[in-house]
Amino acid sequence: MSKAAIYLDTKRVISPISPLLFSGFAEHMGRCIYEGIYDPASPHADVNGLRKDVLAALRELNYRSIRYPGGNFLSGYRWEDGVGPKNQRPVRRDLAWQSIETNQFGTNEFMQFCKEIQSEPMMGVNMGTGTIQDAANLVEYCNAPVGTKYADLRAEHGTHDPYGVKYWCIGNEMDGPWQIGHLNAEDYGKKAREAAKMMRWHDPSIKLVLCGSSNSAMPSYPDWDRIALEACWNQVDYHSMHYYATNHEDDAASYLALSAEFESFVDTLTGVLRVVKAKTRSTHDVYLSWDEWNVWYKDGSGNGHWTEAPNLSEEVYNLEDALVVAQWMNVFLRRSDVLKIACIAQIVNVISPIHTTRDGLLKHSTYYPVMLFNRLASGTALDVMVQAPMIPTKRFGDMPALDVSSSYNAETGTNVIFIVNRHQTEAVTTTLHWQDSLPTSIRSATQLAGTDPKAANSFENPNQVIAVAITPPDLKDSSATLVLPPLSFTVLEVAL
Ligand code: AHR
Repeated sequence: MSKAAIYLDTKRVISPISPLLFSGFAEHMGRCIYEGIYDPASPHADVNGLRKDVLAALRELNYRSIRYPGGNFLSGYRWEDGVGPKNQRPVRRDLAWQSIETNQFGTNEFMQFCKEIQSEPMMGVNMGTGTIQDAANLVEYCNAPVGTKYADLRAEHGTHDPYGVKYWCIGNEMDGPWQIGHLNAEDYGKKAREAAKMMRWHDPSIKLVLCGSSNSAMPSYPDWDRIALEACWNQVDYHSMHYYATNHEDDAASYLALSAEFESFVDTLTGVLRVVKAKTRSTHDVYLSWDEWNVWYKDGSGNGHWTEAPNLSEEVYNLEDALVVAQWMNVFLRRSDVLKIACIAQIVNVISPIHTTRDGLLKHSTYYPVMLFNRLASGTALDVMVQAPMIPTKRFGDMPALDVSSSYNAETGTNVIFIVNRHQTEAVTTTLHWQDSLPTSIRSATQLAGTDPKAANSFENPNQVIAVAITPPDLKDSSATLVLPPLSFTVLEVAL
C-alpha cells in the first residue's frame, strides 16, 4: 500500500478565506428558476411559490451569495419586465435558450429568495442589448432611497427600503460569439467602464465584477482579460472567470487531475492582474471571481424549442465528478489570496447538485463536497505540504495521488483538512503531522468514496454516492494516520 504525509502549520497562511468563495449561480435557464426555485404548482411551494424543500437543501449548502439572473440569458434581459404586478408582466421569447420567459420571477422575487436562504444577492446588468442607462436604472431601483423615479417604483412594488445590493456583474461572457450583443475586448472595456461609472454614482459602496474570458480555451484568452482590465482597472473590484470541466475522452486519470488545469487558469490570470496593475500605475487591487464553475459535458442541451421551463442541461453527476468538484474547491482555498468569489453553476436542476421533480428532490454526488466545503472551510487557508506517490496522466504528466487543502479558524480553534485520493485503485496510508500545535481531538471525519467512478444517485437509489461519517483516526501526539481508499474525498475537522 502507498504511503503519504501531510504537514500542517497554522502559521503557514496563504490568506484569509473569503466567504464568497462558497456562492452559487441561478439563471433563467431550463428548470433552474421555474420548476426549481419557483414552482407555485408544487405541493412543496410556500405562499410565495418558492419550493420549501429546495430552500431547505440550499440552506444546508450554505451558499453565501447567489449570482442572478444569468448567464447568457442576462444579455437579452429587460429587467423592467420582471417587476411590478405579475399579471401585467410580458411573456417574451428568450433568445439565449430559445425558451418562453413568463417573467413571473424577477428582481423582487429574487431578493425574497435570497432572504429565505440567507444569501447575499449578486446582480448582473445586461451589457448585450442593455444600455448603460438600463444598468444605472437597475442600481437606482435596488439601492437608492425613495424620492426618485426608479426607487419610487421599487416602493410602489412593495419594498420601501433599498435592498443595498453590494455585488454587481457588468454583463456576462461578452467575449463569446454566442453571446447576445457580443463585443470585442476594446468595445466591452469602454462600455463596462461607462456603465461602472454610472452605477457607482448611484451607489459608491457597490463592488463591481468585470467580464473575463468565457474559458481558458477562447482564442482571445488572455488578451481579452488584459484589454478589458486596462480599460476598467480603477472602476472594478473583481475580474470574472468561467470554466466547465469535461471528460469527453473518458480519460479518468487526466480527469481526476484537473486541479492542475484549474490552478494554471488562476495563475495565468493572476499574472494578467499584476501586469495591468503595473501598467496602469495603480494602487488599487482587483481580485478574481470564478463566477461560473462546474462539471458539464454529459447533457449539453440548450434549445428550449420555445417552451416554458424546458429540461436543459440536467447533468447527472457521478463519483468521479464529485472528486473533480472537491479538487476545484481545494484550489479555491489554495489560491484564496487572489480568488475571492466563486459561484457554482448552477444551483438547481441545470448543471446542479440538486434535481427536482414537481414533488421530489434528489441530491447528486456533487452535493456532498459542496456542502462540506461551504459549511466547514473558514478562517485562513493554510499552505499545506504534501508528500504523496505520483500517478501518470496523459494531460498533466505525473500528479500526486493526493489533492489537499486546509483551513484554520483561530476563533473556534478548528483546523479542517480536505483530501482527495485521486488514485483509481490504490489506498494511500496517510499520516497528518501538525507542526506547530498539538491537536486535542478529531471532531468529525467524513468520507465520500466508492469503487465505480461512474456510480450516481437516482430517485430509486438516492444513497449510492453520499458522504458518510467514518471512525476518526487516533491522535498520537501531534500526528494521526488513516487509510484513504482509492477514489475518495475525506474531510477531517480537528480541534487544535
Ligand atoms: O451556466 C450555463 C451557461 O454557461 C451560462 O448561461 C453562460 O454564461 C455559460 O456559457
